[in-house]
Amino acid sequence: MLEVQHVSKIYEGKIAYKALTDIQFTIEDGEFVGIMGPSGSGKTTLLNMIATIDRPTTGEILIGNRNINKLRKNELAEFRRRELGFVFQDFNLLNTLTIEENIVLPLTLDGRPVREMKQKAAAIAERLGISSIMNKRTYEISGGQAQRTAIARAMIHSPQLLLADEPTGNLDSKSARDVMEMLEQLNQEEKKTMMLVTHDAVAASYCSRVIFIRDGHLYSEIHRGENRQAFFQKIIDTLSLLGGHSSDISSIRV
Ligand SMILES: Nc1ncnc2c1ncn2[C@@H]1O[C@H](COP(=O)(O)OP(=O)(O)OP(=O)(O)O)[C@@H](O)[C@H]1O
Ligand SMILES: [Mg+2]
Repeated sequence: MLEVQHVSKIYEGKIAYKALTDIQFTIEDGEFVGIMGPSGSGKTTLLNMIATIDRPTTGEILIGNRNINKLRKNELAEFRRRELGFVFQDFNLLNTLTIEENIVLPLTLDGRPVREMKQKAAAIAERLGISSIMNKRTYEISGGQAQRTAIARAMIHSPQLLLADEPTGNLDSKSARDVMEMLEQLNQEEKKTMMLVTHDAVAASYCSRVIFIRDGHLYSEIHRGENRQAFFQKIIDTLSLLGGHSSDISSIRV
């Protein structure tokens, strides 16, 4: 599904900065992968390159066997709109639209018929437990509801790959768990491939695999077995080996 091949990223500037060095990994169809690492380790940089928002300095990224760095500008826009779903940390919802209008945005941009949009929106809202807020505006809903809305919007066009940067970053621990349980369900029942960046060890413990980066290098990866609790502990242990600020590690929220 996703192949990251020898990817490096140098930010040019007054002083060039190497944010990623020779990153190499593969994500199979239907995997649910977390990316963790201290602040400044290169997580968002990596996600932005996979999301086709930015380009690697060297190396290649393949999504579903297509080399995304070789797509033309208009192909890229279409690829991004059809094949990828994004959940941003700050939700990125449009205030002038209703919740339903926000959710169907990817279909609107693709010129789909209204009836189809409404049907799909109703189905996904039902699933995410936000049917009752469809006619509200973004300022009339809670943070957890906004996050679910953002997830609904990221999923409505059935993308090949769902990418999320800190999807639980703005949520209290109960809502964070709800959101992670939902993502886990979407992954298990609909076999959606997902990759998320998170500081939160609890959120990461819902993934099937966690990849750690440090100073722009791959550091290690660990797999979840049957037991989420044990996986959580392994994540915490790895984070403490990784270093970084202790505030990066959300403790005792299992
Ligand atoms: N546009 C840019 N120009 C120059 N340097 C950048 C740019 N974006 C990020 N960096 C640098 O690259 C490094 C990695 O940044 P990145 O945003 O990927 O970190 P991160 O792991 O997402 O951190 P955080 O957990 O704080 O979000 C940092 O040292 C950052 O200062
Ligand atoms: Mg970041």
